Amino acid sequence: MSKLWGGRFSQGPARALEELNASISFDLRLAPYDLAGSKAHARVLHRAGLLTEPELEQMLTALDELREAVDKDAFPVSLSDEDVHTALERGLVEKLGALGGKLRAGRSRNDQIACDLRMYCRDHARAVAVGLVDLVEALTGQARRTADAPVPGMTHLQHAQPITFGHQLLAHVQGFLRDLDRLSDWDRRTSVSPLGSGALAGSSLPLDPVAVAAELGFDAPAANSIDGVADRDFAAELLFVTAMIGVHLSRLGEEVVLWTSQEFGWVELDDAFATGSSIMPQKKNPDIAELARGKAGRFIGDLTGLLVTLKALPFAYNKDLQEDKEPVFDALDHLKLLLPAMAGMIATMTIHTERMAEAAPLGFSLATEIADWLVRDGVPFRDAHEITGAVVAFCQENGRELHEVTDGELASISPLLRPSVRDVLTVDGALAGRRTPGSTGPGPVADQLATVDAAIPQWRTWSTAEVIPGL
Ligand code: ARG
Repeated sequence: MSKLWGGRFSQGPARALEELNASISFDLRLAPYDLAGSKAHARVLHRAGLLTEPELEQMLTALDELREAVDKDAFPVSLSDEDVHTALERGLVEKLGALGGKLRAGRSRNDQIACDLRMYCRDHARAVAVGLVDLVEALTGQARRTADAPVPGMTHLQHAQPITFGHQLLAHVQGFLRDLDRLSDWDRRTSVSPLGSGALAGSSLPLDPVAVAAELGFDAPAANSIDGVADRDFAAELLFVTAMIGVHLSRLGEEVVLWTSQEFGWVELDDAFATGSSIMPQKKNPDIAELARGKAGRFIGDLTGLLVTLKALPFAYNKDLQEDKEPVFDALDHLKLLLPAMAGMIATMTIHTERMAEAAPLGFSLATEIADWLVRDGVPFRDAHEITGAVVAFCQENGRELHEVTDGELASISPLLRPSVRDVLTVDGALAGRRTPGSTGPGPVADQLATVDAAIPQWRTWSTAEVIPGL
């Protein structure tokens, strides 16, 4: 029997309880973190005089061996192990006999699991950040190549005003940079160690939660032992960030689906990042982009599910909290699949700039230029809007584009429309005129690229920094 709690029971658990209760099928992946916590705890027990020097050495060696076995997939577990903590204690006792049973002093599975999950989240959030930085780099590379490539900018999915494709790609980059910022801000708040909280009340043994926290890469131990074991804000908050990333990916995915459609024809995906149809040999499908759209549902579901589990839970630990892990694992696993695929798809796609340029002035997307020209002539915008609307109506009735209206026709629509208005009716002119910070003109887009270029190495450093020393 490997149970951690058999003493007061007259018989073993029913099979149905065991099957329901066990988390070993999904929490074994926490083993490296649990073992790191165990090594820190063993050192503290030694300093407290509860383990001799040789006992500590034996303990640390056995914990390292367990880690090796786990890494090599050579640590078999069974349902009766219940959870990762039970399984690893069994492994320790198998190696050390009675000495293996000493490690549990001053510790509970409640503070252990809270600590393990925090470490897991902090570690894997960095892996997500690596994926985000790669995607940002891919988007920025394509943005640099298309920084002055005109394309119709849309609102309501209707042609609105010409923009550059680079500017549109950088709009997606801005969201992903905020996601990176969210991760680092979240990490600062999550850098608190629950170890020392025990079951809920702390410990009567002379432990050293400050030293344990430092050894495991945390900034500080929990300020309140009840909060230490009951708090799952960190998991919910991380799932908000992953849901936000998922939503951002879905918006980019949707645009890629549109851009690669026959109707747009702006983008063609590389063969390595597109799929075919089993019946229609001509098809090239944007599956990655569609999965990005589709997976947003599960990321939002993971967040929603955990929040509902947490709602109205009394303090401190309740077994409900065992339900916190699978949504976290699910979100992190799927983001780690999705991000490299999206980055590869974006980095390798071919952008048909000539086709986008043809589309840029269509749909009267330069109408605002006429209105702004009138405003610069002193006409109130309200009147300028009306006059420009009349030009658009004239074009629609007569099957013309704005630049095809003659001087005479312009003058007959309004005497304020002098022939020189035609000078602003070019896409290049419209783009060049947008000079204010953050706009789509060549100058501001170059500034934006420079800022993003400077941010990328900083995020690269953050995302690859070691979180848990020596893990
Ligand atoms: N498997 C449990 C969980 O995931 C570990 C903590 C168990 N604590 C307890 N008091 N039964 O939450």
